[in-house]
Amino acid sequence: MQLIDGKATANKIKEELKKEVAAIIDSEERAPHLVAVLVGNDPASDTYVSSKEKNAKKLGFTSSVYRLESDTSEEELLKTVDFLNKDPEVDGFIVQLPLPEHIDSDKVIQSVDPKKDVDGFHPVNLGRMMTGLPAYLPATPNGIMELLKRYEIETEGKHCVVLGRSNIVGTPMNILMSRKTNPGNATVTMCHSRTKNLEEHIKSADIIIAAMGKKEFVTADMVKEGAVVIDVGIHREKSDKTKSGYKLKGDVAFDEVSKKASFMTPVPGGVGPMTIVSLLMNTLKAYKKEIYPE
Ligand code: GUN
Repeated sequence: MQLIDGKATANKIKEELKKEVAAIIDSEERAPHLVAVLVGNDPASDTYVSSKEKNAKKLGFTSSVYRLESDTSEEELLKTVDFLNKDPEVDGFIVQLPLPEHIDSDKVIQSVDPKKDVDGFHPVNLGRMMTGLPAYLPATPNGIMELLKRYEIETEGKHCVVLGRSNIVGTPMNILMSRKTNPGNATVTMCHSRTKNLEEHIKSADIIIAAMGKKEFVTADMVKEGAVVIDVGIHREKSDKTKSGYKLKGDVAFDEVSKKASFMTPVPGGVGPMTIVSLLMNTLKAYKKEIYPE
């Protein structure tokens, strides 16, 4: 089994981005600018947003976080989005999810200018992706496609089983893997909570993309010998063996499945590290007006 090292791949891409941003600054242009909007103080969201900011700055981007109180009204948040939409010095921005319950997330996502929607969550970007037009791709699917590409994993004509149908991972993966591209050109089966004979579907997969959010759900008996396994799950499990007091597990039982897989992503260090670089790749594309030329 060859491990798909997301951390090493992400570091390589970060070096590539850093060089490109340095060249931009050398030519006395302003740096690409990413803004994250965080409403409230959910600790996990706070950690994600701080990590996005820190990584962006390390690579030479301008990066800032708008921290809004948890009782911020929907109207105030929409005003902030409008302000960022209009600021010519902001190339891309994200509104961290989940939002507090009194705010309609769909309304907020739809208020972001698709040209600055570096999360790739706006229906215009999702629709463009679906029809094969240039689009900002959501971070996790983009990170997975980049790993498949860089590890030269053959996908054409293969049977890919996607577990989970979220707007952020499962649904875009289904579209990207079946598109006429490389990676892509696969025959995709999308499985979800109502799928019958789930194990049979998984067993017939050449490529498994597990994003259903159930800890260690995929076990060795469900996996075909030689399958490629991409694990998107992140679950904290208490542990007295680590300094932090917990360890991370995926949607796949790594120890047993890794004995059958040909390629596999670990958790942590697989898909996770790729998501921030995907966001920064999108921000650079926004700066260069690659997706929406003027
Ligand atoms: N919450 C969990 N993942 C994401 C993401 O990729 N973008 C945003 N905006 N919020 C998230």
